[in-house]
Amino acid sequence: MRKIGILTSGGDAPGMNACIRAAVRTALTDGLEIIGIRRGFTGLIEGDFIGMDRSVVRNTVHLGGTILETSRSSEFMTTEGRRKAIDHLTREGIDGLILIGGNGTFRGGVALSGECDIPVIGIPGTIDNDIYGTDYTIGFDSAINCAIQAIDRVRDTAQSHERLFFVEVMGHETGFIALNCSIAGGAEELLIPEDPMDIDDLCKRLQNSFSRGKKSAIVVVAETDRPGWSFRIAKEVQEKIAYDSKVCILGHIQRGGSPTARDRILGSLFGARAVRALESGMNGVVVGVIHGLVCYTPMPETWEKKKPLHADLMDLNLLLSE
Ligand code: F6P
Repeated sequence: MRKIGILTSGGDAPGMNACIRAAVRTALTDGLEIIGIRRGFTGLIEGDFIGMDRSVVRNTVHLGGTILETSRSSEFMTTEGRRKAIDHLTREGIDGLILIGGNGTFRGGVALSGECDIPVIGIPGTIDNDIYGTDYTIGFDSAINCAIQAIDRVRDTAQSHERLFFVEVMGHETGFIALNCSIAGGAEELLIPEDPMDIDDLCKRLQNSFSRGKKSAIVVVAETDRPGWSFRIAKEVQEKIAYDSKVCILGHIQRGGSPTARDRILGSLFGARAVRALESGMNGVVVGVIHGLVCYTPMPETWEKKKPLHADLMDLNLLLSE
């Protein structure tokens, strides 16, 4: 191994820069060259490369977003798109690749490595935390901390006006962000795809809360691919229980901002270990951390297997929101 390439792909996540920085410093310390591929797979197809030295990653550990920029490339999912990418990689002499992203990124990695002999290592970087093979992904901790701050603020105004708030968080069809925010934000109710709740049940539970003396409530809602989902639920609930209701969509705010210490450390650990994984001859695996230990999972398992929500946290949420 002499020269490795690194890119970020899919949704950006706080902590990606700490990860890039660690990969660059580890590679340089080990005597390797490292090339940054800008704008994810789009940049790989176009040969948008930048040499990485220590100065490029200086003063970046605290920055949100990704200094390499990112994209969601449909062209890379075609053989023709990947052929262009392989041409650029070969011309540049890149003999190992690190991909930071989510399931879509790893699918692209598997397709690419099946068509050339460049080893590929994945790093789970997404605020959604929905990747099998790791307890935590880069960006999740920052996203939930951001959402919690927002929920605390919503609670102030909900309480002052005696209102019911539906706070929608991101998560890409999974409830990891929502469940964690519900517990940490003391939400009254939680709506997640893994444990769907009937509107009538939700109304009953809210009415019970109000009859026990609560004057305001927060329902944390995991986003879905149905536009206006939280607004629809809020409207239905308001029609049934006639309580003053508002909707607050947190959206992309959760993806930006300075990473938490946890995400900086996790990103740094993953970045360093990915370089060492390439050096040791690994290929087609995703670096993760399970029960505090670094591990490596074959890429296809990360989308073939579904990471479940933590059962103890589900129970805890139910217990505390009663
Ligand atoms: O995967 C991260 C994520 O923020 C999801 O939570 C969300 O569904 C999606 O990306 C939004 O993607 P985009 O920024 O492309 O709209």
